[in-house]
Amino acid sequence: QLGLKTEYMGRNIFFEEIVDSTQKIAQNLAADGTPEGTIVVADMQSNGRGRMSRKWYSPSGTGIWMSMVIRPNIPVIDTPQLTLLTAVAVTQAIEEITPLHPNIKWPNDILLNNKKIVGILTELQAEADQVHAVIIGIGINVNQRTEDFPEELQSIATSLHRETGNTIERAKLIQAILLKFEQLYTLYISKGFLPIKLLWESYSISLKNELIARTLTGTIQGKAIGIDDNGVLLLEDNDKKIHRIYSADIELLE
Ligand code: BTN
Repeated sequence: QLGLKTEYMGRNIFFEEIVDSTQKIAQNLAADGTPEGTIVVADMQSNGRGRMSRKWYSPSGTGIWMSMVIRPNIPVIDTPQLTLLTAVAVTQAIEEITPLHPNIKWPNDILLNNKKIVGILTELQAEADQVHAVIIGIGINVNQRTEDFPEELQSIATSLHRETGNTIERAKLIQAILLKFEQLYTLYISKGFLPIKLLWESYSISLKNELIARTLTGTIQGKAIGIDDNGVLLLEDNDKKIHRIYSADIELLE
């Protein structure tokens, strides 16, 4: 019913009306050996999860809440690359079906007019250095009106409807995302991360900018000078020392 044009992404698909988290369901399916390309989509999540143990607001009828299971043959250290690949796929899908041109904020936020429209959560099942499955969760604010957002989110989050004035068909966007993802993932498997990195950089607003990175161990201010071959952010502080940032909240400075 999605009109999929993919070979394997979404060929095994679970639609649910309400779940606690599609991420949790996809984790269980992955542990039970579900094939690559399995997708879980829900209309509503009662316990949607964000990065850094935050909650992800996932009301009924208006958003895309989905998780994808993939099984790349890569070392654990390369998995951040898949978050960046997913951000490019979702950005390109949005560009395809709307007139909008979103930007990516490292590592995984997609923004429109500086407000968050998409969040991506990448989780791993691995043994030693071998990846068994990567579970990629994507949350997209699609048809929410301003007043549908809780007040504290209204100035920092937005939706495709808010930005275009139009209602977007969720199935059409899911289909576009799965196709873009499959194309980029095929490119990644055959040619490596470099072509994905170049695309990612062309959408990024974090690069060349002065920013503050808040990590679990401290706060660093500096200039983003690039991402390395693993997808890690390289930040140069005022003493020209370069820090490798694996995970952080980023605040962009003017
Ligand atoms: C972030 O903190 O920016 C990541 C948000 C990820 C939300 C998505 S919605 C579908 C999937 N299921 C979850 O519980 N979380 C992810």
